[in-house]
Formats: sequence, C-alpha cells, structure tokens
Amino acid sequence: MDAPEHRIAAPEQATGAAAREREFWDEHVPELDYVIGEYRAGPDRNTAAMLDALEPLQGKRVLDFACGAGITACFLAARGAAVTGIDISPGSIERARELARAVGVEVDFVAGELTGESFEPESFDAVAGHYALHHIDLTVIAPIFRELLVPGGRGAFVETMGLNPLLSLSRRFLTGRGAVASYGSDDERPIDRADLNVIEMEIGPVELELGEMRFLRIFDRNVLRYRHPAATRVLGSVDDALAKAGMDRLSYHQVVVFTAPR
Ligand SMILES: C[S@@+](CC[C@H](N)C(=O)[O-])C[C@H]1O[C@@H](n2cnc3c(N)ncnc32)[C@H](O)[C@@H]1O
Repeated sequence: MDAPEHRIAAPEQATGAAAREREFWDEHVPELDYVIGEYRAGPDRNTAAMLDALEPLQGKRVLDFACGAGITACFLAARGAAVTGIDISPGSIERARELARAVGVEVDFVAGELTGESFEPESFDAVAGHYALHHIDLTVIAPIFRELLVPGGRGAFVETMGLNPLLSLSRRFLTGRGAVASYGSDDERPIDRADLNVIEMEIGPVELELGEMRFLRIFDRNVLRYRHPAATRVLGSVDDALAKAGMDRLSYHQVVVFTAPR
C-alpha cells in the first residue's frame, strides 16, 4: 500500500512556535552516523511499547508526526507499514531521507506543518510519534488527527509527561541551571492531564503505557549524565522495582495511546 497523497505548505510559511521549532531543530540535526547507529541499535523499551501498541503494522498507513531525523518512521516501515513522516524542520527531513536510503526502507518524508488540508480525511490507519505532542498545541492538532484517522484508528506517542509533581518542579526550577542538563527547545512543555483531556474530547479514550520507568533514570541522565556505571545500575533497578509496584505515573516518559471511535 502506498503512502497517501499530500498538499503540505512549505516550512518557511510557518509562524510563531512552529517557526521557532523549525529554526531550533534545523540547528540540531544529528549526524547521519549517529542516526544510523540509533536505528541499528533498535527501539528502546518505550519506543518498542509504542510500536507494539499499533500492531499489526503490516500494510497499515501510518503518519509519523514530528518525525525529526526519521528513526521512528524507519522502525515503522521495517515492521511493514506504509509510512509518511512529517516535520517542520527541512534539515531533519533531509537527514531522515538519508537514513531511509542508508538502511534500505521506504518512507515518504515531507517537510512542513500539518494542517486540516494536508491530507484527505481518513488517510491513515494510525498516527505515531516520538517526543512529538509536547512540542505542539494539542487543541489544534488533535482535531486534525481525528479527521485523518479511519474509524477505530489508533494513535501512539512516546512523550515527556508532566504527571509527576516532583519532576515537574525539578524541570521548572532546576533544569538548565548549574549542573542540571537541559535537552529540548523553548516551546516544549510536558504533557499534562489537561492535554490528555483534549485528546479524549477530540479523538477518543486515552491509555497510558510504559516500556521503561524513567524517574530516577532522569536524575542519572540530567544530573549524573551517566558518568557513574554503578549509580546507573542502582537507579535503573529502583526504577524497575517502582514500575513493578505499579507506580507507572511517576515516569517522565510514557506512551500515550488513543483510539478513534468506530
Ligand atoms: C524532540 S524532536 C523529536 C524528533 C523525532 N521524533 C525523534 O524522536 O528523534 C521534536 C520534533 O518536533 C518537530 N516539530 C515541532 N513543532 C512541529 C510542528 N508544528 N509541525 C511539525 N513538526 C514539528 C521538530 O522539528 C522536531 O523535529
């Protein structure tokens, strides 16, 4: 099955937050060797949970929204989906095309902003993304997803979440200060309960899934910067124990899954 036809405005026409995102991500395009290495390493546990939530993927038309340098789109294509990847950053899309060529999968990559006119209604069986929704206004994008999905179509997104008050406070007051690393653009904002309500109202029921607990692992990443292998092991084990005890909502990264009505 081919990826759907599209009419997407040039990325230069983006304004406001979308234009700032375009500039930021055009300046942060990863090297080709790096993205090939990430693709060959295979999906991490949260990405695998996101891909699994959309199975069976064989023959499905899938939109990878805010696809960046294309790693997730290539994972989807390798599982048999007809994938369209869209991103506001032309530099990222160029890298994504190079990646797909290098690893031998076919994806239709387009640079630009997704609007209600970009595709025919019901063009996709699923929408997917990897750190995508927390970069955009869900009140704008959720109704577009609803239009694009077939009845019963699914969405699955690995996202940065704002449901853990301790992590939200740390992000607000510590991230980017002193020794605490910041990874991301100015306009991004973790997904909170209000965002999930928007998805439920505009599209359909939302479930949160978890592949790997990232609570203390975030401290390891942003503060210790993975410099102490023993600490990495201990913090990872405590996180895994928290996940087993059902404390999933503490995780900074989770998979947001939704289903359109039939
Ligand atoms: C954190 S990056 C994630 C990229 C990719 N999914 C990945 O995981 O490597 C966020 C991406 O969102 C894209 N983005 C931000 N706002 C967008 C918009 N309005 N339309 C399309 N893409 C957007 C950025 O260009 C950037 O590539």
